[in-house]
Amino acid sequence: MQQLLEQLVETSRKTTIQGKVATYIPALAEADAAHFSVCLTDKGQSYAYGETDTLFTLQSVVKVISFMLAADYHGLTRMMDYVDVEPTGDSFNSIVRLESANTKPFNPMINAGAITVASMLPGDTPTDKVATVLTFLETLLQKEVTINQKTYQSEYDSADHNRAIAYILKANGYLEAGVENAIQTYLQLCSIEVTVSDLAQIALFFAEDGQNERICIDGAILKVSKALMLTCGMYNSSGKFAAFVGLPAKSGVSGAIIAVVKSGAIEILEGPIGIGLYGPAIDEVGNSVAGVHFLMALVKKYNLSVF
Ligand code: DON
Repeated sequence: MQQLLEQLVETSRKTTIQGKVATYIPALAEADAAHFSVCLTDKGQSYAYGETDTLFTLQSVVKVISFMLAADYHGLTRMMDYVDVEPTGDSFNSIVRLESANTKPFNPMINAGAITVASMLPGDTPTDKVATVLTFLETLLQKEVTINQKTYQSEYDSADHNRAIAYILKANGYLEAGVENAIQTYLQLCSIEVTVSDLAQIALFFAEDGQNERICIDGAILKVSKALMLTCGMYNSSGKFAAFVGLPAKSGVSGAIIAVVKSGAIEILEGPIGIGLYGPAIDEVGNSVAGVHFLMALVKKYNLSVF
């Protein structure tokens, strides 16, 4: 199993030269474009290969976690009053469709929807709201989880576009907190630091439908969260990813991806299986080049598509 993983990782690593690390946030630009690591985990065992000790930030991978936790607090009906579950063909930070009054964000996986969701997390201050997500992750991962302050500061200093989105959301009644509060919450969430094996554990939690010995999330919320990953999780490649990979997945501009295998087998691993990937060289849409390459090969080899 370990040998097979090494082979697949090294084959996919070759594609990293086709991507570039994100540079629009200075702290992200420092990542090593040649890094690529993967962790596969089921309930009993884990296999990891690559630069597995590297810490990186969750970025947009956090969006599906914060949606799930906000929905767990408010219920799906109230969530749907604030954010829709429709894909867009626009870029993740697009502002255009918010322009007309009373247009709620299309989905929680784009920045507009994620900023709304951040404002809906329980608690008053950004610290309280972020604590909801940190506590969830700490309970799941059984370790201390922290925010990368350098990335956060770097995001905060270059957040004018996100602030513009938040002001429109506020004006249209889709923020449950002030603009500054929502932005600080959202950017801290993006700056939560993890390893590739943490990503695999997060993916496993979704593969297990949100039920394990420590945490239990309502099944209906999990279904919506996974549907959102499948339809909107991979930015503007979500359609192609659904067609040619066919797994619920969420990526972030740091090069992180979680992919969820509910049933099926990868050699000695049996579904539910969580897959965590980290390859900071991303394509023009924002997905890890090596990560997508790896998932395509893995799914083909083990027939893992949900379709
Ligand atoms: O909002 C930003 O600029 C980033 N922190 C978002 C992260 C990301 O991965 C892009 N998302 N959809």
